[in-house]
Amino acid sequence: MKRLTSETLRQLYLKFFEDKGHKIIPSASLIPENDPTVLFTTAGMHPLVPYLLGEKHPAGTRLTDVQKCVRTGDIDEVGDSSHCTFFEMLGNWSLGDYFKEEMIPWSFEFLTSDKYLGLPVKDIAVTCFAGDKDCPKDEESAAIWKKCGILPENIYYLPKSGNWWGPAGTTGPCGPDTEMHVIRNHAEAAKLGAFDFDNAPSGTFLEIWNDVFMQYNKNADGGYEPLKQRNVDTGMGLERTLCILNGKASVYETDIFENAIKKIEELTSRKYGESEDVTRAFRVVLDHVRTSTFMLGDTKGIVPSNTDQGYILRRIIRRAVRFGRNIGLPQGALKEVSATFVDKYAQVYPELKSNSAHIYEELEKEENKFSKTLQQGLKEFEKAVSALPAGGTIDGVTAFHLYDTYGFPVEITNEMAREKGLKVDTAGYEAAYAEHQAKSRAGSEQKFACGLADHKEETTNLHTATHLLHAALKEVCSPDIEQKGSNITEERLRFDFNFSRKLTPEEVAAVEALVNDQIKKDIPVVMKEMSLEEAKKEGFTGLFESKYGEMVKTYSIGEFSKEICGGPHAERTGLLGTFKIAKQENVSAGVKRIKAILVK
Ligand code: ALA
Repeated sequence: MKRLTSETLRQLYLKFFEDKGHKIIPSASLIPENDPTVLFTTAGMHPLVPYLLGEKHPAGTRLTDVQKCVRTGDIDEVGDSSHCTFFEMLGNWSLGDYFKEEMIPWSFEFLTSDKYLGLPVKDIAVTCFAGDKDCPKDEESAAIWKKCGILPENIYYLPKSGNWWGPAGTTGPCGPDTEMHVIRNHAEAAKLGAFDFDNAPSGTFLEIWNDVFMQYNKNADGGYEPLKQRNVDTGMGLERTLCILNGKASVYETDIFENAIKKIEELTSRKYGESEDVTRAFRVVLDHVRTSTFMLGDTKGIVPSNTDQGYILRRIIRRAVRFGRNIGLPQGALKEVSATFVDKYAQVYPELKSNSAHIYEELEKEENKFSKTLQQGLKEFEKAVSALPAGGTIDGVTAFHLYDTYGFPVEITNEMAREKGLKVDTAGYEAAYAEHQAKSRAGSEQKFACGLADHKEETTNLHTATHLLHAALKEVCSPDIEQKGSNITEERLRFDFNFSRKLTPEEVAAVEALVNDQIKKDIPVVMKEMSLEEAKKEGFTGLFESKYGEMVKTYSIGEFSKEICGGPHAERTGLLGTFKIAKQENVSAGVKRIKAILVK
C-alpha cells in the first residue's frame, strides 16, 4: 500500500488514464450549467451529460479529470469520520468507446499494482448489479473481477438501490454499476452471503471507487431507454482513498485538513481528538469552511442568500459558526481557516487564490450577521425548550420565529432539537413561513388598492368576481379559507388562499357554478362605511389591520359575500359576464393560487 498525499494521488490517477489514451480535462464549475434539476455538481459525470447522451466531446472519447463536487444530502452526518459536503472525485469516461472488459481490469490494476495504489487483493470487495425487469444481472462484471483475481467470496450482488447509478437529477443517463470497497473488518465481512452486503455493520467496508456502465436514459415518465452509445463513468473519492492508503481512521486526518486543524487548534487552544464532542465540532468547521471556500471561490461564485444555492451556503456557514462557538472559535476566525484551504489547493484550483479577497469578505460578512443574533437566538431556543416535556415538539411558529428574527435556518433548529431528544414541527414551520410570505405580499398589495392594477371597467369587474370567488371557496372547500394575496389586471384575477391542496375538478365546477349563480341573480354591490369593530360584528371579513375606531369601507353582495375592502367594485353582479377558473397553482405547501377570467 502506497502512502500518498492528495497532490500525488491526483497526479497518479490522471497519469494512469493518460497512459491509457485519455485526455485530461479541467474540473467544471460547482454550479451546474443548464441543469435546473440540481443545485450543485454532485459527480464528475454531471458536466458531461450531453456527451454521455451522444454529443461529440472536443477532447475525444476517452476523458479523465478531478472534479470538485458538493453533496449536501447528508449534511447532518458531517462530524463523523467519513462524511464531507465537499469532495473531489477522480474520474474517467468512455464516451461510446471501451466498456466493462477494459474498465474492470484497469480498476483492478490501479487499485492493486505496486506501481499505483498497491492495495492487497484480499482487502478488496466488489458489488455488482443483481438484475431486475429493467436490466439483467451483471454476471459479466463479476466474471471479469474473478478473472482479475478478486476472491469469489468478496463479490456481492445488490439491487437497484445499491448497484445502480444516476441520473444525477430526475432524468438523464444512468446504468448498473460495480463498486469497489476496501474491507476494513474481515471478520464481519466473512459472515456475509452474496446478497447480504447491506447487512454488514458500519465500518466493515469503505467504498472508494465506482464504475458505472451507463447504457440507459431515464425519461420523464420514469422509464429506462437504451442510450445510443454504451459509456463508462467512474468516480473515485479522493479523500476516502487517501484515508485508506494512509491507514487513517477518518478523512479529516488526511493531509488535506492538516493545516486547517493546526489553525483551529491555534485559534481555540483545543486539540483535535481531545474528546468526541470537540472532534465533531472540529470536523464540522473543517468541512463547512472548506465547502464555503469552494462555493464562494468558484468561477461562478455564489453568495449567501435565502434561496437555492445561496441558502445552502448560508446554512453551511451558520452551522460552522454554531459548532465553532462550541470550541471557542473566535468571531472572524472562519476566514483564517479558509485561508489554509486556499493555500492547500493553490496549484489545483487557482480560482480560490484569485477570488480569495471575495471569499474572506463574504465569510466575514455572513459570520458577523449571524453572530449578532446567535446568542439571543440560543436563549430563545432554550426558553422554548424548557417549556417542553421530554421528547416534545417545538412548534412551527417558534421555529419560524428563530429563523425570521434570529437567522436560524430551520435545519439548524432541527439539529439542536435532536441533540436534546426533541422534534420540530416542520410542516408547521412551512405553514408559518408561507403565511408570512403571503401576508407581506397581501400587505404590499393592500397599499395598491386591493391588488388592482388599474380602475378600468374590466379590472373592477374582476375585483367583484374575486369577492364572489372568495365566498364560493369558503362554501365549497372550507369555511377557514382566507385571502392570502390578490392581484388583478384587466385580463384576469389572481387569488391566493390558504388551502393544503389543489381543488378537484368537481370543486372547480361547483365554485364556478356558485359564482355564476350570483352573477345571474344580478345582485347590487353595496358599499357602507363603518368602524372596524362594527364591521367585524356584522360578519364582514378582511385581513387588513386597522387602528381602533378607524372607519373602513365594507362591500356586501347580498348575504353571499361581505368583505372589508377599499373598492372599487362593479355596481351589480349582472355586469360581470361568465366566471371561469383558468388555472390553479401551488404557492407553497399551505397556500394555493387560482387565476380566473370573466368571459363576456
Ligand atoms: N457517477 C458515479 C458516482 O458518482 C461514478 O459514483
